[in-house]
Amino acid sequence: MRGYLLANLLACHTLTKTAFGKSMTKLIMSTAIAFAAIAFSASGAHAQDVAAGETVFKKCQACHTVAEGGANKVGPNLWGIIGSTAGARDNGFRYSSALADSGVAWTDDSLDQYLADPRGFIKGNRMAFAGLRKDEDRANVIAYLKSSTQ
Ligand code: HEC
Repeated sequence: MRGYLLANLLACHTLTKTAFGKSMTKLIMSTAIAFAAIAFSASGAHAQDVAAGETVFKKCQACHTVAEGGANKVGPNLWGIIGSTAGARDNGFRYSSALADSGVAWTDDSLDQYLADPRGFIKGNRMAFAGLRKDEDRANVIAYLKSSTQ
């Protein structure tokens, strides 16, 4: 995207001297601005969610790591969590049978429900965490998990 914009700006610079150049310049500039706006809003929103989610994840860090091959702590390492089945990743963690037998597939939706109320969503599981009450915190921490566990 940056290369594209730069190429357009250079084109503007050389074309401005002719009448044809002037109208082309306008066209190119408005296209460039439209593209820049799309790029900004798409990457801007995403970056914000992930950054905010990383802050929320501080609440999880005492018990969880995210990196590939990271240690299990009180809770399991979370690499590969998105799309996996609860308690089924082969990471050496001793899961409760409540979690391992739940059959839950980790999607945005199930993670959202689990993180809102861990004990209510999977009765008897051992994650000693009260839950994240704010919808926004859960959405952001899930965005962070997507960016850092796969
Ligand atoms: C006090 C420690 C603790 C905290 C804090 C904690 N967890 Fe957990 N978490 C656990 C334990 C223990 C398990 C395994 C539960 C079981 O086996 O019943 C677990 C399980 C999970 C699982 C399911 C893992 C799998 O392989 O199926 C996810 C996802 C998860 N935690 C995410 C989080 C997130 C995100 C946070 C922060 C918002 C968090 N946890 C906070 C201890 C914790």
